[in-house]
Amino acid sequence: MDKIIIHGGRPLAGTVEVSGAKNAALPLMAATLLTPGWHTLHNVPDLRDTRTMLRVLETLGAVWQRHGSTVRIDTTGLTGAEAPYELVKTMRASVLVLGPLLGRCGYARVSLPGGCAIGARPINYHLRGFANLGVSTTLARGYVEARADTRLQGGTIYFDKPSVTGTENVLMAAVTARGTTVIKNAAREPEVGNLVDMLVAMGARIEGRDSDRLLVHGVGGLAPAEATIIPDRIETGTYLIAVAATGGRVRITGCRPDHLPALTDKLRAAGVTIEQDETSFTVSCPEHGGRSSCPLQSVDITTLPYPGFPTDLQAQFMALMVLGNGVSIIHETIFENRFMHVAELQRMGADITIDGASAIVRGVRPERLCGAPVMATDLRASASLVIAGLAAAGETEVSRIYHLERGYEKMEEKLRRLGADIRRVRE
Ligand code: EPU
Repeated sequence: MDKIIIHGGRPLAGTVEVSGAKNAALPLMAATLLTPGWHTLHNVPDLRDTRTMLRVLETLGAVWQRHGSTVRIDTTGLTGAEAPYELVKTMRASVLVLGPLLGRCGYARVSLPGGCAIGARPINYHLRGFANLGVSTTLARGYVEARADTRLQGGTIYFDKPSVTGTENVLMAAVTARGTTVIKNAAREPEVGNLVDMLVAMGARIEGRDSDRLLVHGVGGLAPAEATIIPDRIETGTYLIAVAATGGRVRITGCRPDHLPALTDKLRAAGVTIEQDETSFTVSCPEHGGRSSCPLQSVDITTLPYPGFPTDLQAQFMALMVLGNGVSIIHETIFENRFMHVAELQRMGADITIDGASAIVRGVRPERLCGAPVMATDLRASASLVIAGLAAAGETEVSRIYHLERGYEKMEEKLRRLGADIRRVRE
């Protein structure tokens, strides 16, 4: 297993290019199952999770080719409709094959993902959504077996809470159902919009993109499509926060600033200077040494579905608030166990108290944050430890970095080009 070693306290400077969004690539890859033929996806990040999704598709009989960031997938020769436990346990987003398999074959067998480091994360909304389209599901030996005896039938689905993959799964099942499906309280994340665009390019009829009410008029057939994955807003946000934490000036290119309204608002409130145009950010913040004259202000955040503050940036923002001037209350409303990074940040000198779903972060002076050996527990927690390590004095060792590889393309390389002292070593 590899670990990352960081010598912190260096400002970041230069330009960094954002990769395609993991959480958009995964549903778009799954959508290729809906209809036979070669589909072409551009800007697909090369990550552990996208490779796992390719393995899931292969298991189902698909073939694929990658040229740079373009991935072509042919799902003509489907040989099965089962996503096995061995793959689903390494990536719960494998459940995204349920919707398209139901749409194409009327049958799918997918391992239940089980719990996860950040919460229980059930898939009951997905299953209830399918039931409203005429699908019956049974659970046997840890697998969900979903079956529709006739063509799926449009229905009305209401999500108790907006669910990103729940909305995507039901959308994919509904596009070829007979009649109209209404999804109420749908997730409005940009990744859902990216999937809607691909489905429309395949011939689907969908109204309400970017709203919480999606209307799907079922069509008789679909055709293979070409689509481009949107830039990763969470990767973008992670670099914005990293620069705020270390100080320096960085241009972040190939991104969508309009997909990060809550983060940019909070960073500006904290005193970070951010300029933006349609596809890039320039972020600057005084260096550590200058902090006493220009301190980072503590601000509060509450994680919420889009366009609220993303839960996937909560851990990284907390690493920044550790250096704030004042007290920051960080309220996590999406996942019940997403504070695993707190104990690790405390090992580096952070002053954080957890009170139920809130973390109270009392800022410490930058010189009080010290490098330490820390352990990554999930993808975004790992990114928060890297940020803390970049800002801290001395050496930080982040172990279990396979979590990072799930969602950040070439992170050490990108940070090194910005001047960070960061390297990967074998443990
Ligand atoms: N929920 C249920 N039942 C369900 C589905 C969701 O109770 O059937 C609850 C969840 O427990 C949670 C809330 O609804 O409290 C919202 O969860 P959601 O379904 O939106 O999460 P997800 O679709 O499983 C996606 C991302 C996550 C991201 C969340 C929230 C993908 C592949 N994953 O997960 O990304 O945190 O939305 O925005 O799109 C990450 O990239 O690190 C990551 C965890």
